[in-house]
Formats: sequence, structure tokens, C-alpha cells
Amino acid sequence: MLDAGGQYCHLIARKVRDLGVYAEVRPSETPASELAPASGILISGGPNSVYDPGSPTVDPAIFSIGVPVFGICYGQQLMAHLLGGEVRKGERGEYGMATLDLDPADNPLFAGLAGRQQVWMSHRDAVAGLPVGFSTAGRTAACAIAAMAAPDRKLYSVQFHPEVVHTERGREYLANFVFRVCGCRQDWDPRRRVPMLEQEIRDTVGARSVFFFVSGGVDSSVAFALCTRALGESRVRGVYVDTGLMREGESEFVGRLPGVAVESAAERFLGALAGVTEPERKRHIIGEEFVRVQERVMSEHGLAEGSWILGQGTIYPDTIESGGTANAALIKTHHNRVEGIRKLMEAGRIVEPLKSFYKDEVREVGRELGLASELLERHPFPGPGLAIRCLCAEADAPVRATTDGYMVPVNSVGVQGDSRTYAPVLALDTLDHARATALINRVSGINRAIGAVRTRIPVSQMRVRACSLTPERIARLRRADEAVRRLSRLSGFDRRVWQFPVILIPLGDGAEFPDSVVLRPVDSVDGMTARSVSIDAALLEEMCAELLRQEGIAGVFLDLTHKPPGTIEWE
Ligand code: XMP
Repeated sequence: MLDAGGQYCHLIARKVRDLGVYAEVRPSETPASELAPASGILISGGPNSVYDPGSPTVDPAIFSIGVPVFGICYGQQLMAHLLGGEVRKGERGEYGMATLDLDPADNPLFAGLAGRQQVWMSHRDAVAGLPVGFSTAGRTAACAIAAMAAPDRKLYSVQFHPEVVHTERGREYLANFVFRVCGCRQDWDPRRRVPMLEQEIRDTVGARSVFFFVSGGVDSSVAFALCTRALGESRVRGVYVDTGLMREGESEFVGRLPGVAVESAAERFLGALAGVTEPERKRHIIGEEFVRVQERVMSEHGLAEGSWILGQGTIYPDTIESGGTANAALIKTHHNRVEGIRKLMEAGRIVEPLKSFYKDEVREVGRELGLASELLERHPFPGPGLAIRCLCAEADAPVRATTDGYMVPVNSVGVQGDSRTYAPVLALDTLDHARATALINRVSGINRAIGAVRTRIPVSQMRVRACSLTPERIARLRRADEAVRRLSRLSGFDRRVWQFPVILIPLGDGAEFPDSVVLRPVDSVDGMTARSVSIDAALLEEMCAELLRQEGIAGVFLDLTHKPPGTIEWE
């Protein structure tokens, strides 16, 4: 798996492993001579254009050493570019669901896949001219060469992403490549995962002990349990930091977990965040505060330098999206990849047993360890807590009506064509996902669309007001989140979604009701891609009625954006 910088590079490698075939990720420029022993080579997507100076490339010799090659997204463009085809720079791109018309003639990559297929696209540039010896193997309405092939040379490529769950039969393209084209056998068995992980922990930790910050979430709980099993209870200590940014009832829940002490630091965190509006600064401040609290707690517990190391529940998407793999563009800094933590890593004082696992795999490991399903089935909750769900604004500004909807001057993070975007939101009068997707693709300069469910005043009269993170706004968000979570649980809706963030945005009437609530229920498998989910009318009505009775809330919106182009969280 050659890493050309794609968000999904490691996901492809993992999907191949899931098929029972060993795959490993290598830098894209690895010389062909080193790759010759491989049964097959895949080239990932990436954030660049093949025309950008210094953009990732591959050794062109890989196309003539007789090893089958499968280029995906940027990998397809790179293959076309290096073999004499033409890549055209795109103006807007194609993001989200698309219908692929396949031409399966003589193409083992498409064996068993006939006619029309639903695929997931995320690209700006596209192949406009085939290299000599290639033929078009599939097209979509927006992309004339969505797949190409030169079967006699065992070279194949696709513009879409077969590795993401929203490409309906994505697994079959990868299976066809590894089994039919490369002739691989199923000989990779990850069953002995837990004993393997325990051994890795013992090797990393040596004679030292592990100090854990647990969050009550699945990842840190599973990592904590693994370390406890590997090292014994006396060598593993857990502390839960109450940052003041947690959900209602959370500290009580975590305080009941065995082996975990609660440390109150709300004043510290809220003080350090006072007046801050910029999302990356929030994340950095929170990360650094965590390190300070950790240092204080460690010294208070008399844990001598060197004899303790830090344990973390970091999982794979955290590493990828912080730009931690070779070429992946920075999407957002996760709280456990900030400077202070990096220093500990450089000093070899960290153990992250789950760092190459995805959420669904972490739950599987948790089940193998016998952890309670009440804990394992919890929705993910981000380390920086409510801080990154409480959006701020630098300046007052009105909503602007356009022919497509209302431009709301609140910026949120998105991931489009493998790079990070930070752009305003389009508010609509509809809750129609298809219309929202079409508009996000068409209207330039936005990465997200929300539908107005109920507002106290017309959206056209609403205003964004300058504000930062204040205890008052965090409390407002906590109340809204508690109400939504309660109603979601009582109705059983929480079991139908993978995660359900509630976001507070500074959009209101500019006076008594300064904020609005955005509901963000999503369906996902691993958090890398996600589908925005509808809420039944009756439940939505119940949520609106309760939220609009709360202090300060001017309106309720539903986020209609899939990932890509919008990340699950807003910051
Ligand atoms: P995004 O917003 O990147 O989220 O689509 C993907 C998943 O990651 C979670 N997330 C975080 N988790 N620390 C965490 O522990 C963080 O800083 C962080 N940021 C996002 C998010 O909730 C979703 O499940």
C-alpha cells in the first residue's frame, strides 16, 4: 500500500487485511526494486494535484515490473499522469455519493459487479485522457473516466473510494484485486490479537508502570483494561480529569469505574480557555492543560520520573487526522497529539496499544476482554469535550439570504478531496439530504448544510454575534445535550446512530436568545466517513419543544452533511 497522503490510505491497508491478506503501508516513493517481491501494489488517494510542485509520486518503474497495480483516487491520476495520459484540474470537484456505470468487459477487477453501482467520490482533479493501452472501465455523470484498466499489464485504477463503507460493494473491488488479479491466498489471521497486544504492552513498558488518563469512552477504557491485564492492577493507575467540559452526569459515571480516581480541574481548563474563539487554539490549550494536570497529578502521587509512563487510548483515526502518518494532510489536531505529548513520545514514555485500530475493532477487542456492553456500546465522545461543540465567532454578522439558502457566517471544519477546509455553513428551509448534498457540491466556499427545524424568528433575521467560550455557554450546551441524549435514549434512536453530537452555534436574535442548537446524528462504521441521518418527525418535534423551552436557544437545526465533505464534529 503506497501512501500518497490520503486520509484513507491505512483504511485500504486494513480492508485488505480484513480480507485475510497481509498488507503494509510504505512511502509512495519506495523504489520499485523493493516492491518487486510483493504480490500486488496499491496506490492511495491524496490531497495534492499531480501538477503541484513536490506532490507525492511513485517510482514509474513499478508499472513495468510485472506486479499488478491498483491506483485509487489520486493513485488513478498519478498512474495516468506518469504513463502519458492527461489529468485535468477540476474547479469544484465531486464529493459524496455517485452512480457508477461499469464496463465489466474482460476486467477481473469488476468480476461479479455488473451495471450500475453506488460509489463514494471525493476529488477535484480527474483523468481526462487515457494513457496508451488503457481503456475506460467505468464512468459517472460528473467523471467520464471513473475507472480505467490495462488488463494485459495488470494495471487498474478507479477514481472513487472502494475502501469506504459508503461505496456499496467496495469490498468486492478490493477482493477482486487481491484474489483474482494478484492471486493472493487468505493467510493472514488476526485472531491472536489480545495476547499479541498484551505482549506488545509488556515489551514497551518494561519494568515501569503505566499512568492512564481515562475519559469514560470506549478507547481509553479498552486500553486501560488491556494494560491492567498485561501488567496487573498494581502497575496501572487511572485518573479521570473533570475538565468542566464534560457531559451531564459523566464524572459520576466514570467515578464508578473500578480503579479510577476523579481529579477536578474545571476551573483551570475554563480559565485557560476564557476569551478563546479559534478551534485549533482550543484544542492546543486543552491538550497542554491535560499535560499540566498530568504532571501535577504524577508529582502529587510521587511517581518518580522514569519509572512511570503514560498510557493512552489513541486510535487510528486520531493519528491519521492529526497528520501523523507520512503524507496525510492535517484535518484537525487531536488532543492527544499536541506538543507536550509529542515530547513524552520522543522520550519513549508512552504506550498506545490501540493506535493502529479502528473504533469497530476496538469494540471487538473490548468484547474479547469481556468488558460490559454498556461501556462498549457508548457513542464516541471527543477528548476536548464540549469545547469543540461550542462554536465561537470573532465578529457580529448577519445571515445573508442567497438564491440557494442562507449563508450563516459560522465556520466549521470539513474534509474535501483529502484536505482540510474551514468554511461557512448554508442554512436551508428543508431537511432534504439529497438537496443538501447537491448544494454543497455546487455552491463554492461552503462545506456544510443545515436544515432549519424550528426557529423563534425567521432564519433571514437571525444574526451571528461575537462570542467566546464562557461557562454560561458551556452550561447551555450541556443542558441541550442532556435533553437530546435523554430523548434519544428513551425513544431507542441512540441505538440506530453511531454518534449524535449536539452543537451550539452563536446564531440567534442578538439579544435574549443568542444561540442555536444543531443536531448531528450520524451513521458510521469507523468515523472515517459518515452519513448524516434523519430523525423521525415526532422525535424531532419533541426535541425542538424541549430545546426551545430552554434559556437562550433561538432555533434548532439538523446537520444534513455527510463526511466528506463535513467532519462529524464541527471543529
Ligand atoms: P471528525 O470530526 O474528525 O471525527 O469527523 C471523527 C471521530 O473522532 C472524534 N474526534 C475526537 N476524538 N479527540 C478525540 O478523542 C479529539 O480531539 C477528537 N476530534 C474528533 C469524533 O467525535 C468522531 O467520533
